[in-house]
Amino acid sequence: MAEHPPLKVALVGALGKVAAPCHLNVLRSLPSLELTALCDTDEAGLRQLAQQHEVDQIYTRYDELLADPGIDVVDLVIPPFLHAEMAIAAAQAGKHVYVEKPMALSRGQAQEMIQAAAASSVRLMVGESYYFHGPHRLARDLIQAGEIGEIRQIRQCKQAWLFNESENRRLNGLGHDVAWRFDPQLSGGGQFPWVMDHGPHLFATARLFAGSGIQTVTALQRKHGVGREWQLRGITAISWVHSDDAVDGMWCHCETIPEAGPWVGFRSEILGTKGTLRVFGEGGGAAPGFTQVAPVTLYRQGKARDFQLDGSSDRSWVSNNSYYDQAHRNVWDHFADAVINELPLAYDGISGMEDLTATLATIQSAVRGCATEVSSVADDWQAWKT
Ligand SMILES: NC(=O)c1ccc[n+]([C@@H]2O[C@H](COP(=O)([O-])OP(=O)(O)OC[C@H]3O[C@@H](n4cnc5c(N)ncnc54)[C@H](O)[C@@H]3O)[C@@H](O)[C@H]2O)c1
Repeated sequence: MAEHPPLKVALVGALGKVAAPCHLNVLRSLPSLELTALCDTDEAGLRQLAQQHEVDQIYTRYDELLADPGIDVVDLVIPPFLHAEMAIAAAQAGKHVYVEKPMALSRGQAQEMIQAAAASSVRLMVGESYYFHGPHRLARDLIQAGEIGEIRQIRQCKQAWLFNESENRRLNGLGHDVAWRFDPQLSGGGQFPWVMDHGPHLFATARLFAGSGIQTVTALQRKHGVGREWQLRGITAISWVHSDDAVDGMWCHCETIPEAGPWVGFRSEILGTKGTLRVFGEGGGAAPGFTQVAPVTLYRQGKARDFQLDGSSDRSWVSNNSYYDQAHRNVWDHFADAVINELPLAYDGISGMEDLTATLATIQSAVRGCATEVSSVADDWQAWKT
């Protein structure tokens, strides 16, 4: 069989501070992809970036990019309020679509994206990096191999993000301080922008481990009180029941100084009838001053067994758990393979919509102060409109 030429990809939102540098690294490192064009709104910035990365084409107008027959795939690394309209336009122009999470602002938008891709026979992938994170996949494999028996509970926790020094310098010490992330409408999350942005990650991870969907969620909220979100309310704990009614889960979030606890970043504990797994995710690992930890540890029969994964330490986080570029690289590798070889996607538009819906149900639960059935979220419900 003739070798397929690399897919020609346009990176949209190329000048972004957070996801774009990671996508730039990934798109330039996989042989199945060719970074062909960059798109954003600032022409001078784009010229400079294109020169730096030896990319030929730049676009400040998305419609002109879509008219370029030389582009096979658009990579949408733009704020969530633009996801639906840009993904639908790309599908209608016959381009495959990779769109970052959260997939859209409502279930209805997500359905339109799925329908547009199907109508044009293009592929739609939601860039759910936690679902493809190496330690999360390894944990899923151990679960499927029966290492912890039947899963009973998933406990997730997010503590302080801790950037490494070069990332701190690049971000001028401001972290991921970009305006849309704190804006009720642009983020789509209403009073709870942070959860709108991260909810899909935690539900995708829970579904990966449990192998079943999310049925009911309950959110706990209080005054956020810290950082740019201080005036908004924060969701600091979420509990849920999986659709099989046999597994439940919880997530909690506490912003203290990193040294106040042994861990930083995201981690999961998966409790089974025979054993427990501890798995570190984005930015996850030992806090400063504590002994370095393995990304995955299996506790069983009174013994702890560590699993190390190939890969270097992380480019962004203080962690030996290479999340940032490696997880995105895994997603892109999978997507390129699926497009080129016409294979099913492990995480498609339906998956993206499922995790978006659980996220919207979480915000609804916080707003209404009661448990929410995920299936009760209306197609047109948008958190920022409440
Ligand atoms: N999977 C992950 O781990 C991960 C990490 C970070 C961000 N994200 C997601 O990536 C997306 C982008 O987030 P970010 O924090 O990198 O945002 P950002 O604000 O840093 O970058 C967004 C870029 O989009 C550009 N843009 C806005 N409107 C545009 C338009 N009409 N045409 C072209 N460019 C336009 C902006 O100028 C900006 O450069 C979000 O959906 C976010 O949730 C995912």
